[in-house]
Amino acid sequence: MARYAYVNGRYVDHRLASVHIEDRGYQLADGVYEVVGIRDGRLIDEEPHLDRLDRSLRELRIDWPVGRKTLEFVIRELMRRNRLRDGLVYIQVTRGVARRDHAFPTTPVKPALVLTTKNSKRAEADAGAGVAVKSQRDIRWERCDIKTVALLPNVLAKQAARENGAYEAWLVDDAGCVTEGASTNAWIVTTNGELVTRHTDNGILAGITRHTLKSLADSLQLKFVERPFSLAEAKQAREAFITSATSFVTPVVKIDGETVGDGRPGPTARRLREEYVRFASVGEAVT
Ligand code: PDD
Repeated sequence: MARYAYVNGRYVDHRLASVHIEDRGYQLADGVYEVVGIRDGRLIDEEPHLDRLDRSLRELRIDWPVGRKTLEFVIRELMRRNRLRDGLVYIQVTRGVARRDHAFPTTPVKPALVLTTKNSKRAEADAGAGVAVKSQRDIRWERCDIKTVALLPNVLAKQAARENGAYEAWLVDDAGCVTEGASTNAWIVTTNGELVTRHTDNGILAGITRHTLKSLADSLQLKFVERPFSLAEAKQAREAFITSATSFVTPVVKIDGETVGDGRPGPTARRLREEYVRFASVGEAVT
């Protein structure tokens, strides 16, 4: 367990870290977050994660709680204090503490900033055995492009998946198309070798890992297509996989109990994972 958390200007014992009961994040899910993956003491794609944090904050008209340079410093200081080598840094900004009212506070409040870290086993470069996914109706709102802490539909979908022996839920819209996972982006490799993932708009989160993978796919001269794909198409695909800051590229070998391809991680997903791990290993280590 991490020894320190950062809460509004202080590094505090993680077990004792707390915020006020009238924090609007706690009462109203009025806040945003980012998860930055850490590998071998290096931050993966820090800059685009902080750019996306900036966008989420602007969309919800929440001010930056500290300057960006300060946040970059705090991230590193927390990593050092917690001797974080592999895992993630969680960054959360909420609108702040105010007496409960749905509308924004009328007097200025300071946004609340919380950071925690999570250690995990060093992610393997090889893809392992792959994971199963379970489809769930996408019942989320129309601003899934904002990375808010309002995650109840995602929580319920993930829980339903876990109760069905699956690792991730794939969310399906009214047209029968897979939007994304509960906490990952969804991809398939078609029978003619095209790499397909849904286009970004308000319907999904524009994943940072997704974006990096797009460049890696280009450098490998893979054909990359952004379009909706149906659950039925995914089940017939040659390969499927998910991406996120914490799962990197993880092959999907089962959808709703049906085998994808030959039931083992496919060559494209395995290659992309290796490339991603290589990408994550460059740059200066913090810890
Ligand atoms: N989840 N879609 C959703 C709904 C997500 O919550 C996430 C990230 C992604 C992938 O985005 P990225 O590649 O930037 O991590 C897609 C994080 C890891 C989480 O909530 O823990």
